[in-house]
Amino acid sequence: MIELAPSILSADFAHLAEQVHGATEGGGTVIHVDVMDGHFVPNITIGPPVVKSLRKATKLPLDCHLMIENPDQYIPEFAASGADWISVHQEACRHLDRTLHLIRNHHALAGVVINPATPVENLSEVLEIVDYVLVMSVNPGFGAQKFIAGTMHKLRQLAQLRLQRGLHYRIEVDGGIALDTVAEAVDAGAEILVAGNGVFGQGDPKTNAQKLLKAAREAALQKV
Ligand code: DX5
Ligand code: ZN
Repeated sequence: MIELAPSILSADFAHLAEQVHGATEGGGTVIHVDVMDGHFVPNITIGPPVVKSLRKATKLPLDCHLMIENPDQYIPEFAASGADWISVHQEACRHLDRTLHLIRNHHALAGVVINPATPVENLSEVLEIVDYVLVMSVNPGFGAQKFIAGTMHKLRQLAQLRLQRGLHYRIEVDGGIALDTVAEAVDAGAEILVAGNGVFGQGDPKTNAQKLLKAAREAALQKV
């Protein structure tokens, strides 16, 4: 099943609830929250207080994408603030297995993320303990960057591995997803589509979300 996860990174933070409601009316079913620390990525965004406020503003699951060093230190607080899904970067975790278990112990779904330069092979030992895998189709740090088509083979590889190994993780893609790229990502195997600029960049978030989902669903139908 295809789901759209609007990323609030490109939303108007002064009207966050309103923007999230618009994207939800347009068909968004997961709210993607980009957490950046200025160390793991060259940008600083938001933290647990915003998650806490969002938790009161929407019933949708909050998908917290931690682009931070030492995520173990913050996972309990994100979970307590209302994060339903928490993902960490393979590149940021020295003890990835421990970190993923920490997320699960806090009753959140556990996701692992790989940067464009990281191969799927780096995940082979943790695929059994993750609820979702997030493939970055841009280098993390900023919204509205150019989609890197060369990352799409990793979605195919993850879908194939899931089948071969009888696993159940879901496959998410993040970065540069818009009307001109969404079909390619769905065709390669993406099931959860993160979109920031494509939903909140310009125009009406509701209409943008609707159009994006329509294009994604058409691409999914072409696949079978
Ligand atoms: C990038 C973030 C993305 C970002 C995507 O570092 O992880 O979630 O918001 O934004 P767009 O859709 O604009 O590429
Ligand atoms: Zn993200």
